[in-house]
Amino acid sequence: MGPMVLGDLLDEAEPALRGVARSAARREVVELAARVLGAEPDGLDPARPLDGRAVRRLRELVRRRADGVPLGHLTGRVVFAGLELAVGPGVFVPRVHSELVLAAGRKAVEGIAGPTVVDLCAGSGAIGLALAHARPDARVHAVEFDPVAVDFTRRNAARRAALGDAEVTVHEGEAARAGALTGLAAGADLVLANPPFMPDAAEVPDEFGRYQPRQAVFGGADGLRVVRQVVEAAAGLLRPGGVLVVEHGHLHGATVPGLLRESGRFADVSCRPDHDGWPLYSSAVRTAS
Ligand SMILES: C[S@@+](CC[C@H](N)C(=O)[O-])C[C@H]1O[C@@H](n2cnc3c(N)ncnc32)[C@H](O)[C@@H]1O
Repeated sequence: MGPMVLGDLLDEAEPALRGVARSAARREVVELAARVLGAEPDGLDPARPLDGRAVRRLRELVRRRADGVPLGHLTGRVVFAGLELAVGPGVFVPRVHSELVLAAGRKAVEGIAGPTVVDLCAGSGAIGLALAHARPDARVHAVEFDPVAVDFTRRNAARRAALGDAEVTVHEGEAARAGALTGLAAGADLVLANPPFMPDAAEVPDEFGRYQPRQAVFGGADGLRVVRQVVEAAAGLLRPGGVLVVEHGHLHGATVPGLLRESGRFADVSCRPDHDGWPLYSSAVRTAS
C-alpha cells in the first residue's frame, strides 16, 4: 500500500465531526488539515501524500474537535464577516449568527456620517472590527473585561489597522463602566453587544459548556446579569435616536424586549430571529427622556 493521501484522511475524519459540526463537517476537517500542513484550506490537493506525522497530528485534532473543542481554538483563526481574526483557548470564538447583529448595526448607521459605535463584551473584537472594516469613517470603541480576550481584541485591532481599517479603541473593563471608559455620555450613535446570556444551570453542548470561557457563555441564574448591564450602559452611552442591538439567543425573545421597554429609555423595541427562525437579538432606539 502507498502512502495515505489527504483525500483518504478527509473521508475518514468527516463522519467523526458530524456530531459537532453537522453540515460543516467536511469544511472543518479541511481547515484542520490546512492547519497541520501549513497551507490555505482552499488550495489543498486531495491527492497530496501525507507522512505519518501529519496523519497522527490530523487525527489528534479531529479527535479533539469531535470532543467539542471549538474549531478556532484548534486552528487559531476564525473568519467573521469576511475578516480573518486570531482566536484561541480563553477567548470566545465568534459565531456566524452574530453577523446578523453586525448587519442590523450597519443598517442603523447607514445614513450617519462618521458614526460613533461601541462594541460591548467584545471578545476577540469580531463585531466592532467588522463594523470598522465596513465603515472606515466610524469611530469604534470595544469594551471587554477579560484580560485574555482583551489581548486578542488588541492583537486583532492592530492587525486590521495595519491592513488599512479604521482604528478601534480597546478598553479593558466592565460593560457597566463603558461610559467612564469611553468618555461617551449620550454620544454614541450605535451600541452593539453580544454578552453572555445562558442561565448558569442551562445544559449546553460541550463546545460552550466546557471549552468556551465560562464568563463568555453564562450570565447568572436567569442568564441576564450582563444583558441588564448592557441595557443600562447603552442607555447612558447612546444619544437620543441612537440604536442598541443586543444578541440574547432563543431563551430571551420575550424577556429582553421586556427589559428594554421597562427601562423607559428605549422605543421601537423589536426582537429578530436567526436564520432558523429562533429569537437571536433585539434592537431598540434611545428615546430623548
Ligand atoms: C458571547 S462572548 C462574545 C464575544 C464577541 N462579541 C463575539 O461576538 O464573538 C461574550 C464576551 O463578553 C465578555 N464579558 C462577560 N461579562 C462581561 C462584563 N461584565 N463586562 C465586559 N465584558 C464581559 C466575555 O469575557 C466574552 O468575551
